[in-house]
Amino acid sequence: MAELHIMDHPLIQHKLSILRDKNTGVKEFRELVSEIASLMCFEATRDLPTEEVEIETPVAKAKVRRLAGKKLALVPILRAGLGMVDGILQLLPGVKVGHIGLYRDPETLQPVEYYCKLPSDIAEREIIVLDPMLATGGSASAAIDFIKKHGGVNIRLMCIIGAPEGAARVRREHPDVDIYVAAMDSHLNSHGYIVPGLGDAGDRIFGTK
Ligand code: PRP
Ligand code: URA
Repeated sequence: MAELHIMDHPLIQHKLSILRDKNTGVKEFRELVSEIASLMCFEATRDLPTEEVEIETPVAKAKVRRLAGKKLALVPILRAGLGMVDGILQLLPGVKVGHIGLYRDPETLQPVEYYCKLPSDIAEREIIVLDPMLATGGSASAAIDFIKKHGGVNIRLMCIIGAPEGAARVRREHPDVDIYVAAMDSHLNSHGYIVPGLGDAGDRIFGTK
């Protein structure tokens, strides 16, 4: 069974406290989503392999470690996952980015797919699926299904806020997928919103409400 990682680092928790606040405006919200994703990326890539290389400092020769060239791909779930991409690209500028378009039907809460475009060599890549919200888990689980159908194998899921219901569903349906969240909240309300959560992540990132 893969692991559930809760990243309770003080810097992440501080930024998350501002993100949750209903008075935080769209500009700051967007910047915070990007910064939190960047900080979370540190932990979510902790196990990437490194290799020893020899370089010369101005003082002496030295054996140092560099990333071993493991191929990565980010797959944001549209729309809100897009807000997490730039922060990670600042740390890992060369990674490929696929996109999965899903929205949650407000009545049934079931995910509806409208777009899927992944790197052609997705099967060889370490994949990080991005979505700020893991509520019922329907969207994340469907996105992981699509990626697996396209050949993806090594998949991890990074969300900013999770609900226990969503984490349990992804773990049940995709026990091979490590989940990274900055916070695990209390529960879902009757509209499938995370409580206390931060509201509708897509609307707050793109200012559509
Ligand atoms: C939100 C969020 C997730 C999904 C989570 O997207 O960004 O994708 O809901 O809910 P779930 O875990 O119950 O599936 P939404 O459907 O609102 O679409 P949007 O990103 O286009 O706003
Ligand atoms: N999607 C969101 O954007 N927020 C929630 O709380 C649940 C689903």
